[in-house]
Amino acid sequence: MTETMDAFHNGSSPVHVPRHVAIIMDGNGRWARERGLPRAVGHRQGTENLREILRAAVETGIEVLTLFAFSTENWKRPRAEIRVLMNTLELVIDRELRELDEQGVQIRHIGELEGIPPKLQRKIREAVALTRHNRTLILNVALNYGGRDEIVRAVRRIVAEGIAPEAIDEQLIERYLYTGSLPDPDLIIRTSGERRLSNFLVWQGSYAEYHFTSVYWPDFGREHLRDALAEYSRRTRRFGQTDEQLRPRLSTPHV
Ligand code: FPP
Repeated sequence: MTETMDAFHNGSSPVHVPRHVAIIMDGNGRWARERGLPRAVGHRQGTENLREILRAAVETGIEVLTLFAFSTENWKRPRAEIRVLMNTLELVIDRELRELDEQGVQIRHIGELEGIPPKLQRKIREAVALTRHNRTLILNVALNYGGRDEIVRAVRRIVAEGIAPEAIDEQLIERYLYTGSLPDPDLIIRTSGERRLSNFLVWQGSYAEYHFTSVYWPDFGREHLRDALAEYSRRTRRFGQTDEQLRPRLSTPHV
């Protein structure tokens, strides 16, 4: 956790800024239904806030932002909706790539490219290649991603490479995950009132802090990100230790 002055900060004290924030962007469908609109409009609206959220992430000094765009389970949705989602993702790349590149955002994809429509695959590869030297913020787009699937694939590769059982430890497994050498998410945000992980970053999220908000994703703006970060900075992360171990000077002396 880095201590820094951030773009939201009022100037009185430093705020803990998470290095890695991950977001489950949920509620596009309900946002649309409540307005009597087709789900497709909800997904389209769910891209309008992306630019502001990314700008805010850059200004705040977040190092890695991971967005859950499409899970391995989302293939079970009606074909028409899958098509809308894939088209929406293409549209986001077309619309945002230039500004993201100018801001120094490095785009990465986590998940399997195989299975994604070829045109979108090509756009993802191009976006990743274009931005690979950028250093301001790493934007991981989780697309055709499943946390369990990621672990299964890691295990398969470890076995296929003939790695000895005694050489397998947590660090080794981490190196075989899509997130490789990236820090684990410090904060996972889920919008729309649902309180579950839905197979997102199941390994990496073990010690994350969670922020749940009832706001639907299309309505989630800079101010909601600020609230999530403010809540995060008030939390104490113990990683299995006690308060006294973490803040020895404040602890009650043993009698
Ligand atoms: C969940 O809402 C949202 C999705 C499955 C898609 C999220 C994708 C975007 C917002 C596109 C932006 C993507 C990029 C490039 C990062 P839902 O359909 O599950 O809503 P519901 O639970 O209300 O039905």
